[in-house]
Amino acid sequence: MRQDIRAIIDKLSLEEKITLVTGADFFVSRAVERLDIPAFKMSDGPHGVRAQAEGAADHLGLHASAEATCFPSGAAMASGWDPEITAAVGAAIGEEAKAHGIRVMLGPAFNIKRSPLCGRDFEYYAEDPYLAGKLAAAYIRAMQSTGVAACPKHFAGNNQEDRRMVSNSVIDERALREIYLPAFEMAVKEGKPWSIMCAYNRLNGVFCSENGWLLDQVLRKEWGFDGAVISDWGAVSDRAKAVKAGMDLEMPGTGEFSDGILRKALTAGEVSEAELDACVEHILRLIQRTEAAVENRNDVLAEHHALARRAAEECLVLLKNEGHVLPLEKTRTLAVLGALAEHPRYQGGGSSHVASWQVDNTLECLRELADGEVLYAPGYDLTDGESVSDEYLVPAMELAGKADQVLVFVGLTEQYETEGADRADMKLPKAHDALVRQVLAVHPDAVVVLTAGAPVAMPWIEDVKALLSTYTAGDGLGSAAARILFGEVNPSGKLAETMPICLEHNPSYLNFRESKTDIRYAEGVFVGYRWYEKRKLSVLFPFGHGLSYTTFAYSHLTLDKQRMNETESLTVSVDVMNVGEVAGKEVVQLYVSDMETSVPRPVKELKGFTKIALEPGETKTVTFRLNRRAFAFYDTLDGDWAVESGEFEISVGASSADIRLRDIVTVEAAPWRPLETVTQETTFGELADDPRTYPLLCKYLRQSPMYHPEEMPDAPEFLRNLPLWTLNHMAGSEITKQMLLQYVAELNDVLRK
Ligand code: BGC
Repeated sequence: MRQDIRAIIDKLSLEEKITLVTGADFFVSRAVERLDIPAFKMSDGPHGVRAQAEGAADHLGLHASAEATCFPSGAAMASGWDPEITAAVGAAIGEEAKAHGIRVMLGPAFNIKRSPLCGRDFEYYAEDPYLAGKLAAAYIRAMQSTGVAACPKHFAGNNQEDRRMVSNSVIDERALREIYLPAFEMAVKEGKPWSIMCAYNRLNGVFCSENGWLLDQVLRKEWGFDGAVISDWGAVSDRAKAVKAGMDLEMPGTGEFSDGILRKALTAGEVSEAELDACVEHILRLIQRTEAAVENRNDVLAEHHALARRAAEECLVLLKNEGHVLPLEKTRTLAVLGALAEHPRYQGGGSSHVASWQVDNTLECLRELADGEVLYAPGYDLTDGESVSDEYLVPAMELAGKADQVLVFVGLTEQYETEGADRADMKLPKAHDALVRQVLAVHPDAVVVLTAGAPVAMPWIEDVKALLSTYTAGDGLGSAAARILFGEVNPSGKLAETMPICLEHNPSYLNFRESKTDIRYAEGVFVGYRWYEKRKLSVLFPFGHGLSYTTFAYSHLTLDKQRMNETESLTVSVDVMNVGEVAGKEVVQLYVSDMETSVPRPVKELKGFTKIALEPGETKTVTFRLNRRAFAFYDTLDGDWAVESGEFEISVGASSADIRLRDIVTVEAAPWRPLETVTQETTFGELADDPRTYPLLCKYLRQSPMYHPEEMPDAPEFLRNLPLWTLNHMAGSEITKQMLLQYVAELNDVLRK
């Protein structure tokens, strides 16, 4: 079908065009056989292939799907902070998709983790857009190198599950541009996806599927997206409005329903044929781009399970390890308590649910590695975590009393965390908390292994010495956890989100799910660590935190310049040495802080990271390059990114709270928001700050004994804030209204020159 797309469109009848823009059934598009335009298959995504048989498909993971590899879900993957392994996973999923003739994989999913309660937090990458964007771009590029299209989702502002098909995310433009859109922007600009999925929700009053600002202005015109926009499943409320907005393919099929609406709208002139052609063009381009996705290679599962294990090993996060309780000793008796050890929860519920081909049972993996005895008790009823019962606790406590070392497996099971519903609170199931408390009372060195796709409350945290977080790390979770616990693998994951002490501290607390429709993102740009740092709130574990069995020393932070123009880039390098006894990996993180700002900005923001492997004694130099955007904020009045002149701190460290080295660079930028016009309301301060108007201001102020014009640039704010018209209004002023108008005219003349 590789013909000129325009030529194909010219041959299509209006009816055929209408056919192409809505799906046939659940996961298949419609063909136009007359012109050899094939139907194509799509599938979830994002962390494995959920290929369903025709006629038995659904968008909530209810029905069966073909066996596949379940890789770490988004939240786990992002804790790896590793674009390389994320890319390897993206490519592997692409390979598995091809084996089913799937051309479009519905993922990656990387809405910002705004609240720990979002039911899909386990699927999403991070609370930080830079981290999410880098990983998404790596995944997309790698997946598409196999010929399968990625379909990043859910664009945009879909940060809760509650009423997701009708809610209205009310997000101010700065928060959109700085927090909720940049990961998509990076995914589009760096990953170049061939498709993208629009979200269910309304964004600032308009359904994403009908949002021309989002889909056309921002996505296509500003970011240069040239792929197909696909609706989330059932996200189209008005097919005609969606075509007009640039929403190309409606999924799933609606029978004749949408065709009828479109026909009518075309006849009534509400939608033009040119607008429909644009959708058709994007869909045809997607078909052409995915032609290679049809070759089958069916023998990849075994290879991919090994990759799933490797990926999980990168992702697990060692949150606490006081007194080096971990790694465990292989020869000592070990009690494994908690049913999640025998039945690991390695993924979440909903459309991303993969029928895993092979699942590593953590308990068995521990037994394989241990040289001593491994005792086991479930500790709680896996299907009823809210009932605390001696039937489970007593046998577990008996084993805890006998063993030299104890592991307690707790977490959220799928019924707590699933697509389509948010969690009610941050609590773990009661029986899980009870098990931890009781075991710690008799065995203070007991290690907790926590599985959850989002932060949970940990009322026992002060008493626990070692804590390993697994997130939902895919079907290799069991083997990765066992190898890390026994020290065969050195943990290297870092949190991609902050773990707050309690839900009330979370920035979205007051307005998450606040009403049936409008969800005000009142915290603005202060999401995740940007909030906790600005409010100086203590947290349980900070963004970027994760321990290792070795220690890394940071030195020689070097900036290639101390002063720079905003158009230049800054190269930052730092040496990191493994000063411990074992090999390990470190995620080196770089943050930028604007030291003095005219708009409220976060204390610091992540603008670079690299994961490096180091043998004991080895040193590597890590280099980052920062461009203008790393220093900028979004200026909503100008509708553009702005940099303010002044000092910026560059800090490098092992987490957002463990900064090892800092330095300052002075950036010279064009005056931020230079005066365009002067009115009687322009303030003395504004006129004093602009070298063009300052001399005139001095001339006027000299006429009043009240002011010392030379001091005005640095005068106290109460003076700088006075508007020009006060020259005339103040009692005793010699400056008449006439003169004031003359001054305004003179000042504007100066600006125009
Ligand atoms: C989900 C999407 C998914 C689609 C198809 C929707 O309910 O929000 O993420 O790709 O179903 O299963």
